[in-house]
This record gives sequence, C-alpha cells and structure tokens, in this order.
Amino acid sequence: MGHILAIDQGTTSSRAILFDAEMRVVAVGQEEFPQYFPRSGWVEHAPADLWRTVWRSCGQAIEKAEISAESIEGIGITNQRETTLVWDRATGVPVHNAIVWQDRRTADTCRALREAGHEQMIRDRTGLLLDPYFSGTKLAWILDHVDGARARAEAGELAFGTVDSWLIWQLTGGRVHATDATNASRTMLYNIIEGQWDSEICALLGVPMEMLPQVKDCAADYGVSDLFSAPVPILGVAGDQQAATIGQACFAPGMMKSTYGTGCFALLNTGDVLVRSQNKLLGTIAYQLEGEVTYALEGSIFIAGAVVQWLRDGLKIIDAAEETQALAEAADPEQAVILVPAFTGLGAPYWDADCRGAIFGLTRGTGSAEIAKAALESVGYQTLDLLNAMLADWPEAGDDTVLRVDGGMVASDWTMQFLADILGAPVDRPRVTETTALGAAWLAGMRAGVYPDKQGFAENWVLERRFQPAMAAAERERRYAGWQDAVRRTLSA
Ligand code: G3P
Repeated sequence: MGHILAIDQGTTSSRAILFDAEMRVVAVGQEEFPQYFPRSGWVEHAPADLWRTVWRSCGQAIEKAEISAESIEGIGITNQRETTLVWDRATGVPVHNAIVWQDRRTADTCRALREAGHEQMIRDRTGLLLDPYFSGTKLAWILDHVDGARARAEAGELAFGTVDSWLIWQLTGGRVHATDATNASRTMLYNIIEGQWDSEICALLGVPMEMLPQVKDCAADYGVSDLFSAPVPILGVAGDQQAATIGQACFAPGMMKSTYGTGCFALLNTGDVLVRSQNKLLGTIAYQLEGEVTYALEGSIFIAGAVVQWLRDGLKIIDAAEETQALAEAADPEQAVILVPAFTGLGAPYWDADCRGAIFGLTRGTGSAEIAKAALESVGYQTLDLLNAMLADWPEAGDDTVLRVDGGMVASDWTMQFLADILGAPVDRPRVTETTALGAAWLAGMRAGVYPDKQGFAENWVLERRFQPAMAAAERERRYAGWQDAVRRTLSA
C-alpha cells in the first residue's frame, strides 16, 4: 500500500512516476509525442496524443514497479501550463488541436487589446502581461476560427480546459470538469485576487463562462478514475512550475526556485502578497491549500537547456550534453565571449519577441570551447536578470536569497558554480531533482493522508550540494556589465 502516482504531462513528453510511502521514486514511465507547427510561430499538440501518452506512461510505471492499482492511494497531476483545449461535453471530442503555450498566433489580438487600453485592467486582475503566451486569447482564437464553436459554447455544449482539466476529464470518464487555482491563474481569465473567473475579461475576449472548469485547491477531490484495475482518486493538481516550487518546499516568503529545462522558470514565493511587478515579471498563484492562496513572482526565460541542444544539433560541436562542461573548462579564460541566446526573442524581463540571438567578442582564437562556455554562462546571466528584477520588485525578499535549482541542466557542476558566482548567492541542488513530479505526488499523498503535512514535507527536503559563490564582487560586476551591454546591442528597439 501507500503508492502515489504522479502524472507529469510536459511540452515534449508525458511521464508517470510512482512514489512509495516514503516519497521515493519507484518507477518511471515516459513517452514522447509529435509537435505540430502548422505555420511559423504556431505550435499544436493532438489532444489524443497527450492522453494516450499519459495513459501508456502510467501503464509502464505500474508494470515496472510490479504493483497493482489497489496499492495506489492517489493520483497527482502536473502539466505544461497555458496550453489550451476545447472539447464537446457530450462526445468528449476536441474541436481543435491543443494550442501550445509557445504558440504566437494571437500576437495581433494582444497588440489590439493593448492599443485599446486593456492591459492595465488585465494586469491588475490576473497578474499577467497581455501576451499570446496565456490561454485567454488562444481560447478566443478557437471560438473565432472553428465553425459554430462560439454558438455551441454559449449553449453549454463545449468545455475549455488546460491540460490538467483534459486529463481529469479523461481519467474520470467525463464526470469531472475541474482545474486548480495555479493552472487557472495562467489563463488570463481568472481574477487571482478575488479567486474567481473574471466575467469582464471573459466578455472582452468573447469567452462564454459556461465553458470554464470549476477551480479547486491544489490538494482536493478531483473525482475517481475507474480506468485502472481498482478505483483511484485524483487528489492533487498544480501547473508544472508551481509543482516544482512545492517539490522544492519553497513554502516561506522569500524562497525561490529555478527549473532549468528547455527554458528556465524562476518563482519567488511572496506569501499572501501579490507583488505588482514594475519589471515585467508575472504575479501568479504559487499554490492554494485549504482555500488559502500563496502568491509568487515568476520570471520565464525561453532558452536555457535549449542552448546546449543548439551546441549539439545546430553547431554540432558536441555529441552529448555532458560534453559541454569539459569544453567550458578548457576554454581560454582571457576571452570575453558573450552569447545572447535570443533564438526566439527574449522573455523576462525584456519581453522582446522580435530580437534574435547574437555572439559578441569573437577573435581569431575563439573556438568551440569558448562558445560552449559562453552558452553555459548565458544561463547564469539570464537568471541574474530575473533575480535582479525580483529583488527590485520586492526588496522584502532580502539580500540572503538562496536559489533552489532543478531540471536537467543542474547536473552540470560547472554551470551551477558559475550560477552561484554570478548571482553572488548560494545555489542549492537537492538530492531529489524530480521536484515537479514530487510536488504533484506530495499534494495527492498529503490529501490521502500518506505523506506528511507542509512542515513535515519541508523537513524532508534534502540538500545534495550547495554551490557557494566564489567570484570577487568586482569581477562579477565587470562580467555582468558585459552581458548587459551585449543584451542592449541585441534588443530589437
Ligand atoms: O509555462 C509553460 C511551462 O509550464 C512549460 O513547462 O516543462 O513542459 O516545458 P515544460
């Protein structure tokens, strides 16, 4: 007894991770699925692929662990956020592919709404910027472009959901249409102060409120799945970056985590205060437990691990990601090469969709080692941009910030040491780096009574290694000034 099944539905693959009663990983199932790019800047997923790969991953994990569904006490779901789905309530058939968070097709709609003066109202109520990243304008696009969709939505025939809602719907055979507060907070339709769908924003975007899911706490009853060999309740839900914040036990105001996957998402817990960013960060819900909301400041950068993929697949100067570290160590320390990886524009705090990447400081002596080093360093510089923006927005966080890190890139000691050096702050790498899945598992396990409460869970967080900053302040400032100058020369306007 005492297993918890965490489902992590991400942008490129679906995973299922079985945890035991001691919160240890027992088995993992994983499957990738196709990405569709129907036009430049458009990104779609097939809803059936999302569900099929989740379901098969669950099967793989259960089989590997050699357990039966009777021993699973609860399911926790975590997911790529903002990705937008609409389906028919009666048949469960989607009316369109899922429009993925990276999709920019509604850029003009956002520009028009901004020019019409709606941004401040949207920022005040949702904490978000008026950007195609979020679900609201994606949902409006589907209603505008699928024949008859708006009329069917007004008649209550269609359901909207982010990926969590879609999976809950599938797991419960269409009995439950729900989401959690963290996923709702990424739709641009949810008032994060009042804790409810915002009728004025819905009216502005032409979204009938009949199609919106019920919003619940992150640890709550989301229905029971009858698809396994025994009934299994769904007891926890959180968007993936919020689940990582929970998995890193960043429960106290001032605690911060940063996840280094393809991109990087940093969240700073601001407690019961919704900080109004003056530096283009997002105000968002970190988690909602027992009706109580904890807010966060969030900064997103688009290219982190993806820069290493580019070294491998684009430049072909490495065969595997692990080789980057040795190259960086071998680089000539005298060369000040700076890479600004604005391959798809720059995210927070610049939000420049039109600029493109650049390399500065090349000499005849520059080779693959210097470029690899500059690529890894760009991740540190971008994190410092986020940290500076966060501290400017919320000085209460204090000077003694510690960054908890997770995601594939944190395996590189060199990168983590540079990160600590350039931040001038300690970087903590936990023993369990499956923090996203762990966060979802904890929500469900705590609700099921298998796992400890918040405090007990926080005590369970184990440090694997702390990277202490070792760079002299003057050197740090000199290097960061170089980065800032490079960014200035890269920005589009
Ligand atoms: O906001 C998008 C984020 O939730 C995607 O995360 O890990 O699926 O790339 P990931």
